[in-house]
Amino acid sequence: MGKDVIIACDFASRAEVCAFLDRFAEEKPYVKIGMELYYAEGPSILREIKARGHRIFLDLKLHDIPNTVRKSMAVLSGLAVDMCNLHAAGTRAMMEAALEGLTRPDGSRPLLIAVTQLTSTDEARMREELWIDRPMEEVVLHYAENARAAGLDGVVCSPLEASAVHSACGTGFLTVTPGIRFADGDRGDQARVTTPARARELGSDYIVVGRPITAAPDPVEAYRRCMREFIGAPDAACRQCAEKQ
Ligand code: C5P
Repeated sequence: MGKDVIIACDFASRAEVCAFLDRFAEEKPYVKIGMELYYAEGPSILREIKARGHRIFLDLKLHDIPNTVRKSMAVLSGLAVDMCNLHAAGTRAMMEAALEGLTRPDGSRPLLIAVTQLTSTDEARMREELWIDRPMEEVVLHYAENARAAGLDGVVCSPLEASAVHSACGTGFLTVTPGIRFADGDRGDQARVTTPARARELGSDYIVVGRPITAAPDPVEAYRRCMREFIGAPDAACRQCAEKQ
């Protein structure tokens, strides 16, 4: 499984996301479509982005009773997405039902990953508001083990937890990690942040990067910087760009 940078396309409309993707003349980045855009535009936006040649992580973070999640995942499996997700807090039964719903009659399905704790949540809030008294890392690992036991492909977690998740659940169990910021960037509302280079050292499989790319003065250059820091060597598209210069 190759490492990749996923751009969080947290835009409010089709026009905005298309204008953003139009900037990428050389690359076809893996993109994350979240609730905001999906609720605004519906499934047609996924078909359009897929037709442009992008892989899609549909980030709807389902969390409901198992029967509802099974039926909703069956609908999502008919959309052209490569990865989707749910909250591990919904329990193992909910995750198993999700997997069942997502699996198509031919046995194929998008990757399914579980959110452990949001990267905007810190240990104090978890303890004081959610009444979860365990240390963050223990909670994340426990949720990851539940997700693995349910048959999921990986978890969304902080890069800071990636190596512990791999130790507990195996190196093939994917870690998809938001909370990424450049060393010289603004952290915004993210509480636990890491640079792309550090995420690579910590063993993240995919980094999810939003504002450091989407709000950058030059988003294409910011994406390339992420690829360089995270993947190490320039990717094929960047190499082509370098050759043209
Ligand atoms: O702009 P920024 O890089 O903070 O965007 C991070 C993206 O990752 C957002 O779309 C956010 O919803 C998502 N995310 C997160 N923490 C999680 C799961 C998803 O920040 N645990």
